[in-house]
Amino acid sequence: MSITFDGRVAIVTGAGGGLGRAYALELARRGARVVVNDLGSAVDGSGASRQAADMVVEEILEAGGEAVANYDSVATPEGGEAICQTALDAFGTIDVVVNNAGILRDRSFANLTLDELDAVLDVHLRGAFHVSMPAYRVMKEKGYGRFVHAASNAGILGNFGQANYGAAKMGLVGLSNVLAIEGAKYGIRSNVIAPVARTRMTDELLGPFAEYLDPAQVVPMVVYLCSEACEVTHEVFSAGGGAYARFFIGRTEGWFAGPKAVPTVEELAEHLDEIRDTSRFDILGSATEELQKLGALLAGEGG
Ligand SMILES: NC(=O)c1ccc[n+]([C@@H]2O[C@H](COP(=O)([O-])OP(=O)(O)OC[C@H]3O[C@@H](n4cnc5c(N)ncnc54)[C@H](O)[C@@H]3O)[C@@H](O)[C@H]2O)c1
Repeated sequence: MSITFDGRVAIVTGAGGGLGRAYALELARRGARVVVNDLGSAVDGSGASRQAADMVVEEILEAGGEAVANYDSVATPEGGEAICQTALDAFGTIDVVVNNAGILRDRSFANLTLDELDAVLDVHLRGAFHVSMPAYRVMKEKGYGRFVHAASNAGILGNFGQANYGAAKMGLVGLSNVLAIEGAKYGIRSNVIAPVARTRMTDELLGPFAEYLDPAQVVPMVVYLCSEACEVTHEVFSAGGGAYARFFIGRTEGWFAGPKAVPTVEELAEHLDEIRDTSRFDILGSATEELQKLGALLAGEGG
């Protein structure tokens, strides 16, 4: 094994089952000391149990690895602090955070309730903030860190009945992008995974493909992104069923109306095909890069 985690400490949230368990087991097998966090709730976020996290810790210990359980919810700031504190108390530092804990409250947008919105935002989006904020402080201080955030094609591409979930998941892309930019000079890398795998969460959704979608197939992508070998940052990956790919946000070359030009709506409409033409595009690394691109255009065209 050339990719190892000796001396590294990893927090995996929602690691009591499904994908999180698979990430935690492999990180531990490769030498990481792992905080196995799991509230032990049902798929809709209701209930709590220590059993899920305890069983994964037991598995890791039996295999000769090192792990501690944490049962706090990521959905509160206190929970996030406590998860990080568990890592600091047990292992003295934090090198890796996998923001993986998740729930579903699917509902068509017309019928979505504010409770269903809050519950999903609290676990996925605010949860990632609650864990990442204290962890980031430790990583910044030590000049090293790896974040992997679990997003979803339901947010990146959209999916019927998942406005709350999709928005939360796309929010994680925004969080990761900024962490990647701010953390760059401290050795911190931040990336996003959009997994596709057979777990209790997707039990009824994957149809005939389910048997081909082993969570183990997502693991290499996530473990690589957690590793010291990974210098990639600010990116979004798809992994599932043995297929690995990158999602990216491209900005088309578009249409430049001219310096200080204010086109009419009709002129704009005439150029819509050019604006939408994806044959030429840039992948920009920050908001500043877009401004620079605009500046170059204005300087070039405006003399
Ligand atoms: N399975 C897929 O195909 C798929 C697709 C896209 C995204 N995802 C994402 O991957 C992640 C893992 O999902 P999974 O498929 O393994 O589902 P899962 O239900 O097996 O795992 C989620 C885990 O998170 C835990 N959890 C829920 N709320 C929590 C909280 N507040 N604090 C701490 N732990 C909590 C649950 O107890 C559970 O063990 C989720 O974020 C999910 O949205 C999964």
